[in-house]
Amino acid sequence: MSEIITVETTPIEGQKPGTSGLRKKTRTFMEPHYVENFVQAIFDGIGGAEGKTLVLGGDGRYFNDRAIQVILRMAAAQGAARVIVGQGGILSTPAASNLIRSRGTDGGIILSASHNPGGEDEDFGIKYNTGNGGPAPEEVTNRIFEASRAVTAYRIAESQDIDLAAIGTHRLIETEIEVVDPVEDYAALMERLFDFDRIREFLASGFTLRFDAMHAVTGPYAKEILEARLGAPEGSVLNAQPLPDFGGGHPDPNPIWAKPLLDLMMSQDAPDFGAASDGDGDRNMILGRGIYVTPSDSLAVLVANAHLAPAYTGGLKGAARSMPTSRAVDRVAGKLGIDCYETPTGWKFFGNLLDAGRVTICGEESAGTGSDHVREKDGLWAVLLWLNILAETGKGVKELLADHWRSFGRNYYSRHDYEGVDAEAANGLMDDLRGRLADLPGTMIANRKVTAADEFAYDDPVDASRAERQGIRIEFEGGGRIVYRLSGTGTSGATLRVYLEDVEEKPEAMDRDAQEALADIIAAADQLAGIAERTGRAGPDVKT
Ligand code: G6P
Ligand code: ZN
Repeated sequence: MSEIITVETTPIEGQKPGTSGLRKKTRTFMEPHYVENFVQAIFDGIGGAEGKTLVLGGDGRYFNDRAIQVILRMAAAQGAARVIVGQGGILSTPAASNLIRSRGTDGGIILSASHNPGGEDEDFGIKYNTGNGGPAPEEVTNRIFEASRAVTAYRIAESQDIDLAAIGTHRLIETEIEVVDPVEDYAALMERLFDFDRIREFLASGFTLRFDAMHAVTGPYAKEILEARLGAPEGSVLNAQPLPDFGGGHPDPNPIWAKPLLDLMMSQDAPDFGAASDGDGDRNMILGRGIYVTPSDSLAVLVANAHLAPAYTGGLKGAARSMPTSRAVDRVAGKLGIDCYETPTGWKFFGNLLDAGRVTICGEESAGTGSDHVREKDGLWAVLLWLNILAETGKGVKELLADHWRSFGRNYYSRHDYEGVDAEAANGLMDDLRGRLADLPGTMIANRKVTAADEFAYDDPVDASRAERQGIRIEFEGGGRIVYRLSGTGTSGATLRVYLEDVEEKPEAMDRDAQEALADIIAAADQLAGIAERTGRAGPDVKT
């Protein structure tokens, strides 16, 4: 028999959810009452768990299993009607978003620190998503934070661990705990969106692929979808076994952390298509034989060709990109005659546009793409849409991209990151630029004429909320652009991100190296902001 107990506690500093929930060192989450306090704050912040149906799962990182049991005991003690949990405590972020929506639930709790490393000495996270399947908006996270500062006690059931190994329904106090296959509903959704028969034929005709699951949550999803349902030969999914520490790696699908896959794709033995996803399955990286597709180009290609997949044959309602994402997609939207929205960095800003039916596909330069099928970005969705498009056109990745550039022009693009910069120096650089914005239009910098300079603020067209100070934009004659922004996700010091872009319309100049093609813009970025001088860095730590 289980008993409900009330445990006295005191507020714990710093339980403030950020862009993607509360993210801290795993050891912090393991401190006494830490998880309990925050979960109580979530329940208090959403008006109590009583009578609610919630989805629960995580990316399988270290401590996932223990945090899940605590949340289940607290949900039961507080009268939740039902908790739908992924078998083994596993759910990718897009799969959780799907379940929240498809089962008509009140919301869900996702355990993940996304692409951050996992393990006892690494990172953990807890995030609340609302009934639309998307990350809680600020108004909700503020209430959760307020509740965390006021918590004096939490209620929890004293009971044995619930067996999450097998599919089935358990009862804890009055709460039904339904353990579901984490892959099934998501795979079924993908089958509805894409032409699996066509992709299967295409793979059977000899088109080869490798998907690197990076020992993170997409392993079982990719095995089932790419290998079992679409017939890719066994072994097409690499690092498919999810591990609590992701095998010691950074589960971040970019040319730095997914270097083994990148190297393979640049080698003689490259398959036709390569892709990877992150810790919780919402990011993606796309590669072809001998080519890396930037996330901004990927978004533009997907918007231009989505009509080739069954879910999007009727065309798109609109598209959206985060402000620093390249404007390649704008050109596509222009030709298609659909709206293209520019939002601040962070997936949550797409939520209202998707809910209001104004956009169908969204994307960010930070390796996120998705559509209105869920309210999170979705790594495997992007992979499947690419495969559906390639199968329909019969083209390779390189050829498709080259054709795309020839039709729409190429937006050369790169992001330069200066990590762990002294916060004062970084803020000083931004303040100084901010102060000079009005004087910049009309001036020449590194041979380029500035046409506009401002600081981005966003007025949400759906709920009229305003987000200010979302990055400094400098535009040049001919379509070049620099964006300066401080990262909202960094953990030590400040991370200065400089986003560089230039437009090329001449077909003969579309195959250059991006760093080389952007040399002018890169020089202008340093001259304008005095990056080297202010940060004391000779160059960026990371170039994407
Ligand atoms: C997270 C969010 C993304 C966002 C990214 C940017 O991954 O889910 O929506 O684009 O952070 O992070 P930054 O470090 O540039 O603020
Ligand atoms: Zn993620």
